[in-house]
Order: sequence, then C-alpha cells, then structure tokens
Amino acid sequence: MYNYNKITEYLDTQYIGRTFVQYEEVDSTNNKAKHISKNCPEGMVVLAESQTAGKGRLGRTWFSPKEKNIYMSLILKPNSQPQNVVKLTHIAAASVSKALEELNIENRIKWPNDILINGKKLCGILCEMILKKKEIHSIIVGIGINVNLEQSDIDSEIKDKTISIKMYNNEKIEREKIIAYIFNNFERYYNELKDYNTIKSTLDICKRNSAIINKYVEINKLGKKTIRKVKVLDITDDGELLIKNEKDEKEIIISGEVSIRGEGIY
Ligand code: BTN
Repeated sequence: MYNYNKITEYLDTQYIGRTFVQYEEVDSTNNKAKHISKNCPEGMVVLAESQTAGKGRLGRTWFSPKEKNIYMSLILKPNSQPQNVVKLTHIAAASVSKALEELNIENRIKWPNDILINGKKLCGILCEMILKKKEIHSIIVGIGINVNLEQSDIDSEIKDKTISIKMYNNEKIEREKIIAYIFNNFERYYNELKDYNTIKSTLDICKRNSAIINKYVEINKLGKKTIRKVKVLDITDDGELLIKNEKDEKEIIISGEVSIRGEGIY
C-alpha cells in the first residue's frame, strides 16, 4: 500500500492530492471516484494496488496487476462546460510528461492521452464526467502508469507495445514520488485553466514533448474501417490536432474519436 506521508513529503499543492483514499483492490479507481465524488472535496484522489476491471479508452481494458504500477483517479469539480473534459486530458498528459521529465525519464505524448517511452505505452489517461442537469458535477481523471512492471508480467497480446519505467532504466522508483510530482504540475496547469481560462502552459508541454508532430501517422476514426495516412502539423490553441490530409489540405481532428499509429509508435 502507499505511504501517504511519503507523498506529502514531495507535495507542494494546496488541494490536489491533499485528500486521499486507497484500496488493495477495486474494480476501477474511476468507478470508486465516481461514487465518492458526490461528497468529497475537489482534488481528492483514489488509489488502488490492483483493479479487477481497469478501464481504458474506447471500451478497452487496462492491465492492472497488483502492487506494480500506479492506478489512480483524481476528482475535480470545475465550474465548466462539457468540452473542458478534453482540456483536462491534456492537463493530465502534460502533468505526467513533465513529472517524468523532472525525474530524468525521457518520454513523449501521443496526443491526446498516452505517454510513451521508446514508442511504447507507459501511461494511459481516461477522463470521465459526471453530469447533473446537463452541468458538470465532477470530472474524474484516471491515470494508469506502468512503474515496476517486468517484461514477464505482461500479457502476450500487449507485450510489444507496453513499457514500464523499470523496463526503461532498470531502476525501482518510489511510486509516491512520481504521484507527488504529477500533482504538483497538475495543480499549476489546472489553476491556469480555472483562473485565466487558458491551457497555454499545458499545450506548450504537449507540443514540445509530442510523439507525433511532424510525423506521418495512420488515423483510424472510431467505428470506421478506413485508415488514413496523414501528416501531423501541430496542436491548435484549443488542443485539437492539425493535420495535412490526403489532399494536401489542412484539417482539424478532434480528440476522442480517433486512434493513431505511426512508425515506431505502437
Ligand atoms: C487508455 O489508455 O486507454 C486509458 C487507460 C486509463 C487507465 C487508468 S488506471 C486508473 C484509472 N481507472 C481506470 O479504470 N482507468 C484509469
């Protein structure tokens, strides 16, 4: 289990990660967070040592073996419109990427919600919102990071595309430290959104650490069979993807509706 005092040792936030609950096993920390969210302060975090039904994007499952990795969900209560959920995905991705950078772990962001090392997946982010009368009541930011996972722990079907921090640098790193570093960044980026209604610092990181800008990638739209080969040009000020399409025209891709593959990018 986590030592919360160790997290606070590194934590310099006002409210993100300042309230905390942890479990040995849950179905999904996002589900737990949803239950708790009605009566909890903003910034509360749910942590678990394992998940029996860890959720990934696009209905996938998230591989969640015991005590190896980080599975956590942050509960936010922004006063905002549903479209801000996407912004929180970018904020989470930038926070994880920056935290890893601060720990000397070189990584790339695969827009919008994956963190890669050497083209393989290290971390996934799943944001879910809870609406009350068409207004956002809470947003759950679920983050899964492969920390001390070993090659032999990984199911064969995801072996080629999965990596952990330990597999990258052979170091056993304190999960508490990683978590605190993520929260420190998260609060800064999130306050920028709340106070100034911008995610500029977030997008600076998303662009600087992008795995796909200036690369040719294959884009597959949800539910469609066609795979499009396009070049990624940039990320817009709203966090959308700017591409050059098959007709050499500029086009905007909105997150949440596509999966992306590229050379060296699983
Ligand atoms: C993805 O890449 O598809 C998103 C994966 C998100 C996984 C995390 S683990 C903690 C939280 N609880 C869940 O059930 N999912 C997220």
